[in-house]
Amino acid sequence: MSKKNKLTYICESCEYKTVQWVGKCPNCHEWNSMMEFIKEDKKQIISNSIPILFSDLEGGEHERTQIGVKEFDRVLGGGLVQGSLVLIGGEPGIGKSTLLLQVCSLLSQQEKVLYVSGEESSIQTSNRYKRLGSKAKDLFFLYESNCENILEKAKDLKPKFLIIDSIQTTYSESSQSTPGSVSQVRDVTFNLMNFCKEKDITCLLVGHVTKEGNIAGPKILEHMVDTVIYFEGDQKGQYRILRAIKNRFGNINEIGIFEMLENGLREIRHPSQCFIERPLKGSYGRTITCVLEGTRTIFVEVQALVIENFSENINGRRTSQGIDQKRLSMLIAVLEKYLGLSLGSSDIYVNIVGGIKLDGRDSDLAILVALLSSLRKIPISSGKIFMGEVGLTGEIRSTPRADLKLKEISHLNYDEVVLSKTTESHMKDKFDLKILGLERVQELETYIFS
Ligand code: TYD
Ligand code: MG
Repeated sequence: MSKKNKLTYICESCEYKTVQWVGKCPNCHEWNSMMEFIKEDKKQIISNSIPILFSDLEGGEHERTQIGVKEFDRVLGGGLVQGSLVLIGGEPGIGKSTLLLQVCSLLSQQEKVLYVSGEESSIQTSNRYKRLGSKAKDLFFLYESNCENILEKAKDLKPKFLIIDSIQTTYSESSQSTPGSVSQVRDVTFNLMNFCKEKDITCLLVGHVTKEGNIAGPKILEHMVDTVIYFEGDQKGQYRILRAIKNRFGNINEIGIFEMLENGLREIRHPSQCFIERPLKGSYGRTITCVLEGTRTIFVEVQALVIENFSENINGRRTSQGIDQKRLSMLIAVLEKYLGLSLGSSDIYVNIVGGIKLDGRDSDLAILVALLSSLRKIPISSGKIFMGEVGLTGEIRSTPRADLKLKEISHLNYDEVVLSKTTESHMKDKFDLKILGLERVQELETYIFS
């Protein structure tokens, strides 16, 4: 080894570096994650770039290609930017390859596309292609996982769009680590990025997400690429959501909603009501809330199940899907404190229907009412919408962007909206809607459960 190349060790999980090998990473405490890593001393690079006054910088629009899948184009901020690197992350089996094959087929009607798979053979891909019934034109398939070979083939074929499925199965000869490791994933992405920027090729990379929710190779890819899009949802359910979490060429508020069918993904153009189903007659533990995703309002069904356990020695089980478990614990504590309930040993389950994840706190009230409805075995009318954050003093807080939500609600068949007193006073008489404003959770007993 040359004097200039120093051997260090890098953690596959968090990228922590040490000069000596250790069995357990001192930073993230992962076992057996330290891999050999040769660090080359930085050479001084002389570049021709010179500082320019901001006022002399030239602006302009980015050249974009509309895919033709409106939900995808909107999430991208109006289509794929020429020469950009886009990462599509998601859990295995969520539908990334399906989505990309549909996208490739459409793109290939306009330009030459190369779809590279290191995961599925030509037979598997051909079967999928037939199942989708897509009509591709200038679309080429390559079963390859060696990055240098991929670039060589792409140099000859000269595609305008390059799809790599997936980044974890692709390896570069320049890196000594195993495929899928942090340094491999980084080196491959770096090589692809340089190649695509030089040749002005737009590249879509598929990245599998680990169970912790990171794109394997902890988040390092996110810094390197221009756009990061997650494909998420309940694998067993029918809906999938496309969400931008980073976009150098657009905002990250918009989502795209798809339905997984027998013959591929179908976009849902008007998703506001798609997550709501007609309830079983007399069923309790169910409420509806309204959330904003980008510029769209979506109605979401919250389901709760509270099983009372009268033994004092047992700690009740708490399970939540689609909301933060800590948030659920907080809401249970609020119920116990301000409504005098004793739920310590009750088993409590909360589920947000359709694989939706509720990040905002405006759905607190809907969750709380669903819990109470299950506990009291009292059904809540499907015509009622609940919105509002619940605070630790039992107060019901104002709803952000209430005007947008109420406008949509007023166009649909809902009878009443229950929200904070403050929001009620701001929104009163603005919409043709019955609005009930509450100040604190104790009032639910009188107005909802009496
Ligand atoms: P896939 O695209 O292979 O997922 P990923 O690339 O994210 O691992 O999708 C896998 C699932 O999608 C699989 O369980 C079957 C289902 N599927 C359909 O329901 N309909 C279809 O038309 C296709 C192609 C797949
Ligand atoms: Mg796949």
